[in-house]
This record gives sequence, C-alpha cells and structure tokens, in this order.
Amino acid sequence: MPEQTTAVPGRRTTAVRPPGPDGPAGATAVAHPNIALVKYWGKRDEQLVLPWTSSLSMTLDIFPTTTRVRLDAGAGHDAVTLNGAPATGEAARRIIAFLDLVRDRAGLPHRAVVESVNTVPTGAGLASSASGFAALAVAAAAAYGLDTDATALSRLARRGSGSASRSIFGGFAAWHAGRPTGSATEADLSSYAEPVPAAGLDPALVIAVVDAGPKDVSSRAAMRRTVDTSPLFEPWAASSEDDLAGMRAALRRGDLDAVGEIAERNALGMHATMLAARPAVRYMSPASLTVLDSVLQLRRDGVPAYATMDAGPNVKVLCHRADADRVAGAVRAAAAGGSVHIAGPGQGARLVGEGGR
Ligand code: DP6
Repeated sequence: MPEQTTAVPGRRTTAVRPPGPDGPAGATAVAHPNIALVKYWGKRDEQLVLPWTSSLSMTLDIFPTTTRVRLDAGAGHDAVTLNGAPATGEAARRIIAFLDLVRDRAGLPHRAVVESVNTVPTGAGLASSASGFAALAVAAAAAYGLDTDATALSRLARRGSGSASRSIFGGFAAWHAGRPTGSATEADLSSYAEPVPAAGLDPALVIAVVDAGPKDVSSRAAMRRTVDTSPLFEPWAASSEDDLAGMRAALRRGDLDAVGEIAERNALGMHATMLAARPAVRYMSPASLTVLDSVLQLRRDGVPAYATMDAGPNVKVLCHRADADRVAGAVRAAAAGGSVHIAGPGQGARLVGEGGR
C-alpha cells in the first residue's frame, strides 16, 4: 500500500509504485467538492481549460467522491463506472479524454478500469465534477506512475474540469488564471491552484438543495455562451480581480462579513452575466429566490449569513459555524421540500489505498 498522504504544495503526494514487471498498478483516491467564493466562469482556452479569471473556493468536508483506477494491460478500451453504472455520453468522453492525457504523459498504452462513487447529487450545480476529476487525477496519476507533486496534480485535475484544480487542496484555495501569453506549455504551467491562508475563521456552508435533478444547460455550455454573447461578461471579469484581492485580505484577517459580502456580490454578478447572455441562461428558480430572501431576513435579524450559487438552482449560505444550525433552520423552512446540509472546510484530495490488479 502506498503511504496515505494529503496533497501539500511542493511535496510528493505519495510514494508511487510505477507499473512494474509484475503488472500495472492500481490506486484509490478520495476528493471533496469545493464551493467558489470568487467564481470561475469562462475559459480563454477550452482545450487547456484556462480561465479568464482567477477564482477562490472552500473545499467541503461532505459529499466525497472515491475513485479507483486499475490498469488493464489486456483491455482494448477503458471501462468506466459511475456509481456502479457504465459511464455514457459526455461524461464517458471527458473521462476517457482525461485518461488519454495521463497515458500520453506516462508513456503507457494500458487501458484502465475506473470505478467512481460520488455522493454529491450529480449535475445539481454542486460541483460534482470538481471532486470527480480531483479524485480521478490523484488516482490515475498514481496508477500510471506519474511523478507529481500537488501543484502538478492541480494542473492535471484542471484539464478534466477547471474547478477540480481547487479540490486538490483542503480549506481555502485560489486557482491562478495564469499567463495568457507564451507557448501552450507555458500557459499550462502557469495555471494551478494553491492554498490560501485564513486566520481565525470557523466557517460553515449551509447547502440548500432545492432541486437535485440534472440541469438543462451544462456549466460548460453556459459559460461558453456567456463569454461569446453576454455584454456583462467583461465588466464582471474585471470586477472579479478586485473581488479576489478583497477576498484574500478578508480571509487573512478572518473577517467573515467581508468574505460573505464579496462572495455574494461575485456570485450574483456571475448570474447577471448569464441572464444577459443570448439566449439567457437562468439557473435561479423560484425556490432559489425564496432561499435568497431567507438569507436577507437572517441578516436583518442580526445573523451574518451570505449566499452564493453555482450553475444550478441550489443555494449555499456562508456563516459562522456557531450559527450553522440556526441558518439551516431558516433555510430549511424556505426551501420547502428540499434537503439542507451543513459543511465545514474539508481536506484536499488524497490517496487512500492501492486498488489491486
Ligand atoms: C459555477 O469546473 O464545472 O461552479 O471547467 O467546464 O468543467 P468546466 O467547468 P466547472 O465550472 C464550475 C463553475 C462554477 C463556479 C466555480 O466553481 O468556480
């Protein structure tokens, strides 16, 4: 078994056993989703998954994805299951393209058996692709014997899904947009996530799942349409730079109100860019607005609580851990029929064992 370690910048994440004469290796990794407080929305390079703006998130301690990758020297194709069912369509295409990238880097032709178990409601705007590709990057890199540190794993995870670059790290993490100029290799190397220090914060994110079904427009398609057609995209991207600087400073001084105010305006601004796209992309539902109203009411009642939303109707509410039960109660009443979950800051992606042959 490889030693169990957490991804730390600049350090090896594991003692990797490369595929040897006794057959290729397997590896199992766990990763958690993250929720962006300064959002990633829009790619300047779709192939390399390079974003227009830098972003910052909190990795959660709930909804883990566990992924096992085992190399199969005799197989003619990859076999991928998601929650026990064979992966199909776009999901299968993205995972196989990711494995091709890992094979190319490892110089190995072996196909893989991938088994991924995801506990987040898939496709509900809860960033299942972040935990999914972070776990796949860590497991596949180990199984194929890639020599990676946490920064390299973050870059690799980014190629699967942009937000996955941040789930390599625990707590708060910022993903650098990177340099827009230079060669493709330089651009690739310049865009990765790293941990962000946060002093004296004991935060919780209360997650109101008002609709756990798959969304009508994927975040990938929606962000492309926003960049291509929304007149609000450029101003939002410009203000996002200030939001990131303000967010870093607020985290450094442990100022939850400032963190929350910036997170809420950044997220609502992102949704405004989509509403102005042609045709509009609208992820907010009447239930989302009811939950947003309950967050305003909490603040009027003196409870620091701030909302953020991703590519779906669900609402995540940032608050002090000590207020989480009260916030969850208010949000539960507003999200009638929906489920409410309380998350704290979680660990980065890590190997949890060797998957056997
Ligand atoms: C709204 O990382 O899922 O959650 O790179 O196309 O896979 P791809 O997109 P993805 O987008 C996440 C967008 C977001 C905001 C965020 O997490 O920063």
